[in-house]
Amino acid sequence: MTGTSKTRPRGGTAWAPAWAAWAALLAATPGPAAAQTRPDAEWSEQELRRIFQFSPLPEPPPDPTNRVYDDTAAARLGQFLFYDERLSGNGKISCATCHDPERAFTDGRSVFVGVAEGTRNTPGLLNVAQQRWFFWDGRADTLWAQALQPIENPIEMDGARVAIVRLLLSDASLRAAYERVFGGIPVALASADLPPAARPAAAPAGDARQRAWAALSSPRQEAINRVFTNVGKAIAAYERRLVGGHSPFDRYVKALRDNDAAGLDALSAEARRGLRIFIGEGNCRMCHHGPNFSDGEFHSVQVPPRGGGPPSDPGRYDGAARVVADEFNALGRYSDAPDGPAAEKLRRLRNTPENWGLFKTPSLRNVARTAPYMHQGQFAALDDVLDHYSNIDRAPVFGHHKRETVLQPLRLSEADHKALRAFLESLSDEAPDAALTTRPAEP
Ligand code: HEC
Ligand code: HEC
Repeated sequence: MTGTSKTRPRGGTAWAPAWAAWAALLAATPGPAAAQTRPDAEWSEQELRRIFQFSPLPEPPPDPTNRVYDDTAAARLGQFLFYDERLSGNGKISCATCHDPERAFTDGRSVFVGVAEGTRNTPGLLNVAQQRWFFWDGRADTLWAQALQPIENPIEMDGARVAIVRLLLSDASLRAAYERVFGGIPVALASADLPPAARPAAAPAGDARQRAWAALSSPRQEAINRVFTNVGKAIAAYERRLVGGHSPFDRYVKALRDNDAAGLDALSAEARRGLRIFIGEGNCRMCHHGPNFSDGEFHSVQVPPRGGGPPSDPGRYDGAARVVADEFNALGRYSDAPDGPAAEKLRRLRNTPENWGLFKTPSLRNVARTAPYMHQGQFAALDDVLDHYSNIDRAPVFGHHKRETVLQPLRLSEADHKALRAFLESLSDEAPDAALTTRPAEP
């Protein structure tokens, strides 16, 4: 692969006005440096079209399944809960234990460690509200339903929804914050004594919490589920505010759009060379597509399982089945828009054996800050990821999968490898506002 630049075709194009503006600007500021940084000279028209698909990053789409998705008080409550260890069974684990704001909301581990060690890598949360499906296997279809799973997962936080209702009832300031956003907690919950911890989750087998849940009447179960889902909705309102989009790459694209010669320094020549590979021969954009660098779909890029042997993680095949069965999905009674677009996305979902072993295309924004990589953290560094794509024909193919045709071995030269890495590194944002990354004193 070479880094030769292609000159864009001239004449009668949509770019003519921009070119005219450039010509005027260059006439005003003559000099060799300015001449070299003309976008016109560096990128073909097709390349510019492709580059512009990646930036700017828009606001995350609205989420009508969560009526408080954009509510400030809900986000504040959600932020408080995100950093609150009391949501866990042992009182020691919060969302931020694994999603550390200092590491772009990851934990720096290959696979997570909560109450016990898991089998998946912790993804970062910046721009998470841009996603269509949540988790590596997409087993949640909304951000609020996603938040409910780690709370009760026996190896993550091992909490219980009834314990959370009791926490809200017993902590006066938390209760007041909750009731300001969602209204009063039903009298049936406030007056009657609830078991200390109860949840429907099956593991571990024969768990007393599960028996306690089964003993509750279904109206009380439903009232508890309402409070539990509201907790998820508040957390989602917080997570929605974890946004970026001000990386050096974004500044460069803005300068390209605005014909701002000075701003073109935002991206080094090496990173621009990497960008050319990314949108061109590298085919990366086929899956890492659009302003969040993800098509929101599921693929296999043939990453060998951690620990060797054939893969045992069914990925999307399991995730698609679980999201359809989830009582907290966008179609269910706890959704605030069971007829909205998220519900439609779920109705259209078809699961097939082809989904076995597929994982969601992760965003590449802030990727330099979220090592290790892939669904099991199989790769320690970006260099390992690039070596993998470069020699993908040497990675084993398992089961019925064929290699996706866009995944051709790139045999990157050392210079191209470094260029792609420099480009990926240019996707890092400044850290979000400190007010958003700490536990507030009050909910
Ligand atoms: C013990 C570590 C741990 C804790 C605690 C934890 N998470 Fe996660 N989180 C993970 C891992 C690992 C994944 C990916 C799991 C998978 O795909 O199966 C994940 C996935 C996510 C995702 C989906 C991201 C994506 O790109 O699809 C979101 C959102 C999220 N967590 C938010 C939360 C919230 C909110 C909490 C607290 C209620 C929380 N997490 C608690 C480890 C953790
Ligand atoms: C066929 C779709 C596809 C193509 C083409 C593709 N990727 Fe990926 N990429 C994925 C998927 C899916 C994953 C996650 C795979 C997994 O965990 O098993 C991923 C993971 C990654 C990761 C790790 C991110 C993380 O947070 O763990 C990086 C970095 C990456 N890709 C960069 C690239 C680059 C650079 C190219 C071009 C050379 C490229 N990808 C081409 C689909 C693709």
